[in-house]
Amino acid sequence: MEIQENTTFMPRIGDIAPNFVAKTTKGDITLHDFAKDKWIVLFSHPADFTPVCTTEMSGFAQRKGEFTALNTELLGLSIDSIHAHLGWVNNVREKTGVYFDFPIIADIDMKVSKLYGMLQPNESETAAVRAVFFIDPDKKIRLVMYYPLNVGRNMNEILRALEALQTSDKFGVAMPLDWKKGDKVIIPPPKNLDEMNQRLNDDSCERTDFYLCKKDI
Ligand code: BEZ
Repeated sequence: MEIQENTTFMPRIGDIAPNFVAKTTKGDITLHDFAKDKWIVLFSHPADFTPVCTTEMSGFAQRKGEFTALNTELLGLSIDSIHAHLGWVNNVREKTGVYFDFPIIADIDMKVSKLYGMLQPNESETAAVRAVFFIDPDKKIRLVMYYPLNVGRNMNEILRALEALQTSDKFGVAMPLDWKKGDKVIIPPPKNLDEMNQRLNDDSCERTDFYLCKKDI
């Protein structure tokens, strides 16, 4: 098997989101000045006027209210011109009644795509993969998803992960497998013997053992 060289820069969880200035369907933006004190879901799609992308963008548009309720702004991107974006937004509105009412970056020079590892040449040299960056109000990257060109993302999972991150921050807890709002959360495990012995006597939580205890919030 041939080893393929990989020189793609990929921002990682915990990094400050690389700043950029870009043209969007709602005017020019500077990432670090965009959506002050809010979360940002920055997502790319491969190309305007393509079928999977149309379903995904429509999904973001139709569930925008749920992102707003989570103090989150949407920011889309593809390597297309503003002209193409406007034509596509209008076409989808005419055909389906769904309006992409959030900024979509026209990354025609691929500047942002390269900065965020969205251009993955072994998948495509000209189209961005389906990336999602969850950026917190301090502009720190908190979760990254990369999907290939031929598989659409899951909007329920994007919203679930966003809510899990925010709930984890708010209560200082961790989220178990398949966690969703209303489920029990995981209490951080003890860090020393005193805390372990205390936890073993704590009947206020659902305890499997000292290192796995859940509670309601
Ligand atoms: C699509 O959105 O349908 C698509 C875009 C680029 C490559 C393959 C599929």
